[in-house]
Amino acid sequence: MATTSKPKGRPAPSRAPTAPRATVRRYQMFINGKFINAASGKTFNVFDPATEAIIATCPAGGPADVDRAAKAAKTAFYAVWRGTTAQDRGRLLFRLAERVRARRSELAELETRNSGKPIIEAEYDMDDTATCFEYYGGLATKINGDVLPVPAVAVALAMREPVGVAGQIIPWNYPLLMAAWKVGPALAAGCTVVLKPAEQTPLSILALAEDFEAVGLPPGVVNIVTGDGPGAGAPLVTHPDVRKIAFTGSADVGRLIMRSAADQLKRVSLELGGKSPNIFFSDADFENAVDGALFGVFINQGEVCSAGSRVLVQRDIYKRFVDATVAKAKTITVGNGMDRTTKMGPLVSADQRDRVVSYLKIGAREAKLAVGGGVPKAHPRGWYVEPTIFYDVDNSARIAQEEIFGPVMSIIPFKDEADAIRLANATPYGLAAAVWTRDIFRAFRVVRELEAGIIWVNHMQPTMVEAPWGGYKASGFGRELGRWGVEEYLETKQVFINLDEKPIGWY
Ligand code: NAI
Ligand code: MG
Repeated sequence: MATTSKPKGRPAPSRAPTAPRATVRRYQMFINGKFINAASGKTFNVFDPATEAIIATCPAGGPADVDRAAKAAKTAFYAVWRGTTAQDRGRLLFRLAERVRARRSELAELETRNSGKPIIEAEYDMDDTATCFEYYGGLATKINGDVLPVPAVAVALAMREPVGVAGQIIPWNYPLLMAAWKVGPALAAGCTVVLKPAEQTPLSILALAEDFEAVGLPPGVVNIVTGDGPGAGAPLVTHPDVRKIAFTGSADVGRLIMRSAADQLKRVSLELGGKSPNIFFSDADFENAVDGALFGVFINQGEVCSAGSRVLVQRDIYKRFVDATVAKAKTITVGNGMDRTTKMGPLVSADQRDRVVSYLKIGAREAKLAVGGGVPKAHPRGWYVEPTIFYDVDNSARIAQEEIFGPVMSIIPFKDEADAIRLANATPYGLAAAVWTRDIFRAFRVVRELEAGIIWVNHMQPTMVEAPWGGYKASGFGRELGRWGVEEYLETKQVFINLDEKPIGWY
């Protein structure tokens, strides 16, 4: 940070009470290959969570814009995209990945400025984004149907075809990466897309859209409508030309989407976060365990759907584990994500900060506070929350049952394996879980009992594009990533070709 010496002879200017000014860039949304304003002409502000400054404005998209985007996507689907070869679609995704790699630092900086996350994490996100496009570029040519061994004299086929126009609604915690998780498989499958980024973080995908034409994406194949949930998300869900909705976000909005998609019997896939257990048996490598507990929940300021927010610890190491975890949490550097030494940035919005702070108050009543518990004194400006650890938490407490989506760890003791499994499964959610032990037999026993879609052993959070991602129970349904991700965008068509010259024998 630059420091300036006070000008001599004049009183130092008092610090402005409002957020500092930044260059405000006016972004447009991307429909049918063009950057345009909203039909209403309205815009909304986009912020830097570290300074609270307005850094951009975006069009406040509404039903008219969604309609325009959906029609463009439908036209592009029938006129162009459906007829492309898988090889062409694959090559296009490779070129998109190349653009992400070429623009890595620029896009990562934009992501950090807009979301608050540490720049080092944003850079990894860009690598993962490129890898995701590459994976689906490769998979595009491996989507194939089946020939079925029917008893009749016939060839029976199961053909795979794109669903059509896909509506995709994504959150603000991994803005560009979440776009890639959704756009990559849709394009590989041959679908066209209307994507609605989160209103807090629309900038990185709009920046990448500058390259869509250069990589060869025909107009209308990927459309980006900016706006908030009720204004732009809701009309996307009910638009008659949209055949499928893919959503990542809160369970409440997930329920709403499922209800409104029911009228048109629209396909829906939902990833709704969780309250994932991170389970530590006393035979685990102790140092790795402590690091794994911290990394599991404080990565990306805890704004992670698979955050290991419930830390279950076996009683014989409980006290030592709490002490060591708390001691290390105190060393986490909180600050502006643009600073390369920052381990934890601000939360994405004032709303999210307030939501998390309200849970800190609930936690203070429900359990024992070991560290954190509020807004850091060093950062009165910016939407920061201290890394916080509660211990002696009862698994039925609200801070153990409800998704907080911030840097809040709840430590819960357990007695034995059966106790750990019972507690781990005792939430409505089932997205992820991790188990730490050096006993391979125990690890597998626990893996089999856990009701969650993603399970790590002796680690938490590494996310591989090859492997399926999604939840059990209230964490939603459908799977992203890997070959499962592309299934969400494919129809299956049965074809029966008679080869019997006199097939109908009884008339
Ligand atoms: P949200 O679920 O409201 O927002 C996610 C996306 O859904 C955004 O693009 C938003 O514009 C859109 N949306 C909101 N209302 C909609 C509607 N009626 N119809 C269609 N789309 C709609 O999440 P929000 O309010 O930002 O965060 C609240 C809580 O949700 C967080 O504290 C966290 O617990 C959870 N969450 C979970 C995420 C996950 O990765 N599973 C991601 C973001 C939030
Ligand atoms: Mg919301």
